[in-house]
Amino acid sequence: MSSNLKFDATDRVMHEERVFSPSQDIIDNANITAYMKTKGFSDYSEFYKWSLANREEFWSDLASELHWFQPWKTVFEWTEKPFFKWFSEGKFNIVYNCLDRYIGTPIEEKVAYHWEGDDGSTRTLTYKELYQRVNQLSAALQKLGVQKGDRISIYMPAILEQIIAVLACARLGAPHSVVFGGFASSALRERIVDCEAKVLITADGNHRGGKLVELKKLADEALLDTPTIEKVIVAKHLGTEVNMQEGRDIYWEDACEGIGLDTVVPCEELDAEDMLYILYTSGSTGKPKGVVHIQGGYAVGTYATTKFVFDIKPDDVFWCTADVGWVTGHSYVIYGPLMNAATSIVFEGIPTYPAPDRWWQIIEKYKITILYTAPTAIRGLMRHGTDWPAKHDLSSLRLLGSVGEPINPEAWIWYHEQIGKNALPIMDTWWQTETGAQMITPTPILPLKPGSATRPFPTIEADIVDKDGNSVGHDKGGFLIVRYPWPSLMRTIYKDPARYETYWNTIEDVYFAGDAALKDDDGYFWIQGRVDDVIKVSGHRLGSMEIESSLVSHPAVAEVAAIGKPDELKGEHVKVFVILKNGFEASDALLHELKLHVRTNVGPVAVPDELEFVASLPKTRSGKIMRRVIRAKELGEPVGDLSTLDS
Ligand code: PRX
Repeated sequence: MSSNLKFDATDRVMHEERVFSPSQDIIDNANITAYMKTKGFSDYSEFYKWSLANREEFWSDLASELHWFQPWKTVFEWTEKPFFKWFSEGKFNIVYNCLDRYIGTPIEEKVAYHWEGDDGSTRTLTYKELYQRVNQLSAALQKLGVQKGDRISIYMPAILEQIIAVLACARLGAPHSVVFGGFASSALRERIVDCEAKVLITADGNHRGGKLVELKKLADEALLDTPTIEKVIVAKHLGTEVNMQEGRDIYWEDACEGIGLDTVVPCEELDAEDMLYILYTSGSTGKPKGVVHIQGGYAVGTYATTKFVFDIKPDDVFWCTADVGWVTGHSYVIYGPLMNAATSIVFEGIPTYPAPDRWWQIIEKYKITILYTAPTAIRGLMRHGTDWPAKHDLSSLRLLGSVGEPINPEAWIWYHEQIGKNALPIMDTWWQTETGAQMITPTPILPLKPGSATRPFPTIEADIVDKDGNSVGHDKGGFLIVRYPWPSLMRTIYKDPARYETYWNTIEDVYFAGDAALKDDDGYFWIQGRVDDVIKVSGHRLGSMEIESSLVSHPAVAEVAAIGKPDELKGEHVKVFVILKNGFEASDALLHELKLHVRTNVGPVAVPDELEFVASLPKTRSGKIMRRVIRAKELGEPVGDLSTLDS
């Protein structure tokens, strides 16, 4: 077990005794109720118990609602523990299920995406139009030499071309690796180099909150040192003049020239276990992990959770506010909603621009029925008061969701009262980049407690255990684990299977999530936060080591420790402790320079809010910085075991 596991969160539990029960009407009409009925259940607890004993039946039922070119032979098998397969020998393509199967049916005329730009401009794509644009780009990629198995990096703003690019890759069986458009060039370079991408798809630039982002310029800096990249496709979003490198860079429209919108590139008939994408996320080392998701099981997991948790119905207008650069965008902006034939919203901007009612205005304008967002956004909007939402008709909403970090009861209640008009249920969904889909989450039929992600999704055997893997029982804190693989779980870490194995051997034979949590008497889970060196800033996942290694690359810096500190708005913010090299003096100017250094190396999300110059840092005898001790001292908590401390 890793030495930096700590458990000190029990006292931070946000226990609330208020319970919000759903109306009979919601229960009667929920998708999950209909499914439970087919299995002979009306009570979730009984049904959940059944699902643990009948995992394969549950997941095959859901998988059967999707299109398979060839049916699977085995539902689940361990290949060599902890490696496993779902739906072996099934032939599948997720994009066929997102698009092709609707062509020639009335769904082709339905809106897949309403796009709203930062500056208020709008665009709409029906399923048919999206299908055409995806086929066109797939053909263009083929012309550029892209084949099944080639990796494609995507570095784009929240525009519809980003979604088209993702689907065009998946259609060909070319794994996509989306890099969040808010990352800086070295973060992009590191990810391109790790996955050895052949093509990069990017855009000239974009505006966010009125501010210009020169994306192509950032991409160019990254591309100075990415030998595998052969071609760069550039979408014209702003239409500004950008550097185009002869022979390498090509505008999207030029790549598509001569490829008519009636061109069809048949979906590659892939193995269920073929790679769909790599998404980099932060862990306990400085190097981000390339989480690998596959075509079949990932599709089944995101399809099922979208159907049951968000309870998608044909008339819904669904808005997941996440950026496609994060897993929430992959699963709930793109794949889950499209496989459920939903209409979704994509918004390029930020909640407070040009005014703090931008989101409420969008909800009113598109008559959005389901809103899925992050606690940090709710807390941010709360600060602007209740007048802003009150100015708008939000009566189209019927369901709310939350993701990315624990939602504090105060924010939950504000969300419920002000946005949900005291009536709407909130789906507080706990999951991770690695899990692919929602794991501990209510469906609309469950009574809710503000601050709790409630209970596991069907078949998910989650528990709270001590470091030896023993269940700790109710109302005691411990490590959150899951006992058995589910279809949408990552298959490996790209080129680093040993790192994947640590998820299954930190605590023997169970999936170790890296979170501390507690289960109450009703079996409700209360997630308390990470137990490793992952910091959650505004729901964005950062690693202590990534920030530290960025700072030590500055000539003035000798050593650094980065920790997360509780933050009322962001959930956590980054504080760094810096030891300067001999000959450098602490000053305000240097402090600003170091912050800027992180901004240009990792990206604005990683910039520390606090930076303190120190003379020494607590270390183990082997020279490892003890962040656990620094954090405890900083927060005034007990420092715990100091036996390995050097001085
Ligand atoms: O600590 C948990 C927190 O986010 C982590 C996963 O981060 P990431 O891979 O970026 O995925 C975020 C979006 C799925 C988890 O280990 N987390 C996520 N959702 C919740 C949460 N913590 C509490 N409540 C949640 N609903």
